[in-house]
Amino acid sequence: MEQEKLHDLLQSLTLQEKIGQLIQLSGEFFDATDISLGPQRKLGITQEAVDLAGSVLNVAGAKEVKRIQDIHLRQGGHPIPLLFMADVIYGYKTVYPIPLGIGATWDPALVERAYTNTADEARASGLQISFAPMVDLVRDPRWGRVLESTGEDPYLNSRFATAMVKGFQKNLAAGSGLVSCVKHFAAYGAAEAGREYNPADLSTPTLFQDYLPSYKAAIDAGVKMVMTSLTTLNGVPATADKWLLQDILRKRWGVDGVIISDYASVYELIKHGFAQDSTDAAAKALTAGVDIDMKSPCYANGLQPLVENGHLSEAKIDDAVWRVLTLKNELGLFEHPYGGATEEREHAQTLTPEKRSLARDLSRKALVLLKNNENLLPLNPHSNQRVALIGPYADEQELLGLWAVHGERKDTVTIKAGFSEYLPAQQLQTAKGTDIIRDRAMLEKMGVSAEQIGHIISGSNTEQSNHDQALAIAKNADIIVFAAGEHTLQSGEAGSRTRLRLPDNQRQLLAELRKLNKPIVLIVISGRPLVLTDVQDQADAILQAWFPGTEGGHAIADVIFGRYNPTGRLSMTFPYDEGQLPLYYNHLSTGRPENHSQHSGRFVSRYIDNPNKPLYPFGYGLSYGSVQYGELKLDSDTLAAAGRDELTAAISVTNTGAVPREETVQFYIHDQVASIVQPVKRLIGFQKVPIQPGETKTAALTITPDMLSFANRDGEFITEPGMFDLFAGPNSQDVHQTSFSLTE
Ligand code: GLC
Repeated sequence: MEQEKLHDLLQSLTLQEKIGQLIQLSGEFFDATDISLGPQRKLGITQEAVDLAGSVLNVAGAKEVKRIQDIHLRQGGHPIPLLFMADVIYGYKTVYPIPLGIGATWDPALVERAYTNTADEARASGLQISFAPMVDLVRDPRWGRVLESTGEDPYLNSRFATAMVKGFQKNLAAGSGLVSCVKHFAAYGAAEAGREYNPADLSTPTLFQDYLPSYKAAIDAGVKMVMTSLTTLNGVPATADKWLLQDILRKRWGVDGVIISDYASVYELIKHGFAQDSTDAAAKALTAGVDIDMKSPCYANGLQPLVENGHLSEAKIDDAVWRVLTLKNELGLFEHPYGGATEEREHAQTLTPEKRSLARDLSRKALVLLKNNENLLPLNPHSNQRVALIGPYADEQELLGLWAVHGERKDTVTIKAGFSEYLPAQQLQTAKGTDIIRDRAMLEKMGVSAEQIGHIISGSNTEQSNHDQALAIAKNADIIVFAAGEHTLQSGEAGSRTRLRLPDNQRQLLAELRKLNKPIVLIVISGRPLVLTDVQDQADAILQAWFPGTEGGHAIADVIFGRYNPTGRLSMTFPYDEGQLPLYYNHLSTGRPENHSQHSGRFVSRYIDNPNKPLYPFGYGLSYGSVQYGELKLDSDTLAAAGRDELTAAISVTNTGAVPREETVQFYIHDQVASIVQPVKRLIGFQKVPIQPGETKTAALTITPDMLSFANRDGEFITEPGMFDLFAGPNSQDVHQTSFSLTE
């Protein structure tokens, strides 16, 4: 529709019709049957508000979308179609590894292609907008939503935020793209103590240097929507924070797209102690800049009286409605209210062999080999070795993770199925051994129903039988592969944990298997970095597999049997102990650093009961074979801050092994002296280098002054002349070092 006609449409709407465009409800509100009154009564809104609502969340499927759109256009009385939005975080029907695994790929280009495929599937199924990417930086694995993040580094998170937004939105004009909604603005990942929905409290330099860059990257990539965080930032709920939404988003960053609240976060302003009641909450959220109120009664019941009583200008409402109508118009919804979705297109576009193949490749690249004593891996499928595949994840299709809302277990390739494509039946025996978890009290605390608990926790006879069967096949095997990990429900939203170990029942079985003195490969399925300290000696090889997605079983088998040389590198630190948390590589030095202080012994920055160091550091991961790094060289030892000067760093890498590999060469800097003290290391670039056996390649990085800038107390990025250390290597710890000076 032309702009002029769109303006006319806006002007033609009543106040109530305008407010309707700012309301988002879930699918059950749009059923034609009487049950729809239930949620309406529960939420406390009128049927008129439902009939006039502007968007729906988490309804998908071409048939269902068409049905609801038809009801709406029939009942709404005006020609404005609904927008359909959903959580399509890491895949739609073809589900990828969780974003923390995607972060371990260090492959933004592949991720961009994957997200274009996802947009294709979701758009064919009637969705127009995805509440993704979630780009919250996370330094504390106790927080369950670390699952959705690409990790602890601002630069790497920004690269992936860019890739995901561009991937989603690439084919928007062609009708097969998805509008991307970046979330959760801002700094939700800094929830104190890793406890869900807890406050975030950050200094301005930390906020701007570490937590905001990934949102900014999404905005620079053209993201069309922003979702607010459920939490407070420095005492103000993000959903009503004028400074965040007006001063930063709209004024400083020039965002003119739709801002949507998180689920009921407008209403929760009351619980935060920021709003008196739902009308006050509506006034504060709209004034701060929230255009759409997701699943709360505040806008539906509060905005009209606010305008009619003169407490809110209708012009404010018009601005918000204009942004919503513009988005609908850009999507062509007025002409094509189903967004081009048909059941035929949906069937043709989802879970295609090509999409599965790319998902398998992405899943392989997400796998991180953490340990491989005496090169136990890869296993040789032609060696007649008898493999005992044991554990609750050995033959389990629940490999998608909590936020794979639209993925289906039935489509998932299990580890057993993956192994069976490499090993003949007589060489592979499988046994569950034990449940994933047997902690009834924890499941009840999570609100899991008794019936569901019955499916999770086996009866004691079954458990004993599973245990005995596992020991039996292990005794007859040459190699034990133990597929273990946390339950899907233990991570994701509201999945905060204080103890990050494998479940006790799994650790007990692993200890028994260890007594058989046979080689053990441990595969870890998890939505977070677990504390593996107390099991790492129980296995000769450890493969971190995350929730690996629809093609997980294929990907794991491809690495275990050597078809793919693992390239995954951790995008988040694995702690030695929960007591160290939060623990991250780009930390500050302190005045008494543990190893370089003039103080000795007791009076340095350390724990007396645990090391400072993590179990596995940021950037870490092993590959098959071996590699040799050469000297780190610079083409100059000075870089001028003024002008367009640049410096090139280069380091050679030789594949000294017998198999091809892809090395991810990482480059870090340390600003030795600055007016705001700087981290001991900060990632500024990386290069993925494929290397054949015996070959030497050079990885290089061009450094410009802006890459050396840091945030000051006003949140502005500045550079200061001085000496910089430069590091390069396979991870954030094993690095080669040189230095250069930044001059005026
Ligand atoms: C949830 C999450 C958010 C999600 C929204 C809609 O509470 O915080 O990430 O997009 O609700 O499901």
